[in-house]
Amino acid sequence: MSKSKYNNPFSATLNGILDLFRKQVPIGKLSPSDRLDGKTCLVTGSNTGLGFAIAQQMAERGAKVYMACRSGIPEAGEKIKKASGSNLVEMLKIDLSSIQSIKRFIAKVKEEGLQFDVAVFNAAMVPSGSKKTEDGFDQMFQVNYLSKFILVNGLLEAGAFKAGNSRIIFVNSESHRTARDIDFENLGKFEEYSMSKVISLYGYYKLLLNVYAKELSRRQNKETFKYGIFALCPGPVNSNIAREAPKIFMPLLKLIFGIFFSSPSKAAEPVMYLACSPSLEGKSDVYLHLMQKKEMDAKALDVESGRKLWQKSEELVAASGH
Ligand SMILES: NC(=O)c1ccc[n+]([C@@H]2O[C@H](COP(=O)([O-])OP(=O)(O)OC[C@H]3O[C@@H](n4cnc5c(N)ncnc54)[C@H](OP(=O)(O)O)[C@@H]3O)[C@@H](O)[C@H]2O)c1
Repeated sequence: MSKSKYNNPFSATLNGILDLFRKQVPIGKLSPSDRLDGKTCLVTGSNTGLGFAIAQQMAERGAKVYMACRSGIPEAGEKIKKASGSNLVEMLKIDLSSIQSIKRFIAKVKEEGLQFDVAVFNAAMVPSGSKKTEDGFDQMFQVNYLSKFILVNGLLEAGAFKAGNSRIIFVNSESHRTARDIDFENLGKFEEYSMSKVISLYGYYKLLLNVYAKELSRRQNKETFKYGIFALCPGPVNSNIAREAPKIFMPLLKLIFGIFFSSPSKAAEPVMYLACSPSLEGKSDVYLHLMQKKEMDAKALDVESGRKLWQKSEELVAASGH
C-alpha cells in the first residue's frame, strides 16, 4: 500500500470513501438470532458516534451494556434506553487522557465485581495538534494508544474478563498501514506538532494499538485459548471525529461526511460481528476492514516489536508515577 494513502486529511478521506466501493468478501453476516442475552458488554467512548451505535445495538440484542465515557452522562445512556427499549444500560465515567481516572475506573469495576463478556475499546480522538496531558504525554498518544494498554491490562488483572469466553475488541484504522517504523527510543516522549502532522501520527498510534493487540493475544493465548482478541477498521464513519478541524473546513467536512461516510449504525456492523458471531467462538486474532477479514500490516505482526512495545509501555507508566 502506498505510504501516502491515509497520510494527509485529503488522501485519507478520499481513500476511505473509495474503500467503501471496493469489492469485499464479507466474513459473514449476523442473524437476528445472534443475541447477547445474559451477556455483559463494555463500550468506551459510547456517548456519541460509532460507540453510541455499538452500545445501542448491543442493548437491542439483549446485552447489559456499560458505557464508559467522559461526557454525556447520563443523557447518552437515557437516549440508548429509549432507542433500544432496554433498561440494561449503565454509564461509568472515564477520562482516557488521565491515568488516575483509568485507575479509578478499574478500581470501581473490581469493587463491583463486574465481568465483561465483550469489551469494545472504541474511544479515540483526532486533535488539532499536540497537547500535553497531566501525565506528561501527548494527548493523542495517551488516548489512542497508552490508555488502552493501561485499561485492558488493568481490567485483566482485576479479573474483569472471563477466561475461555470474553472477547476484547479494538477499534482501529486502516491508516495503521501507512505508519513509519516504531521509534522505541522516543516512544511517549512529548513533542510539539501542528495540524499537518496529526493524520500521520494518528496512523502511527493506531499501529501501536495493533502491535499491542497482537502481543496481548500472544501473551494471553500462549498455552491455551483464553480470550478472543480482535481488531477492526470501520471505514469512514459520519461521526464527530473531525470536531477539532479548523472551523473554515467544517461546512465542507460535514457535507462530505454526510454524503459519503457510513452512518455510525452501518459502521458498527464489523464490531457487532466480532462481538456476537458464534463462528468466532474459541478464536482470536481476527482483523476486519469493514466486513472483510485481512491481515494487519506486517509491522503490527512483528513479534519483537510486540515485546519491545509492551516493555517500553510498562516503563512509561512506571515513570509517570502510577
Ligand atoms: N470516523 C471515522 O471515519 C473513523 C474511521 C476509522 C476508524 N475510526 C475509529 O472509530 C472510533 C470511534 O470514532 P468516532 O468516529 O465515533 O469518533 P467520535 O464521534 O469523535 O467519538 C469518539 C469517542 O471517543 C471519546 N473520547 C475521546 N477522548 C476521550 C477521552 N480522553 N476519554 C474518554 N473518551 C474519549 C469521545 O468522547 P467525548 O465525546 O467526550 O469527546 C467519543 O465518545 C475511534 O477509535 C476512531 O479512531 C473512525
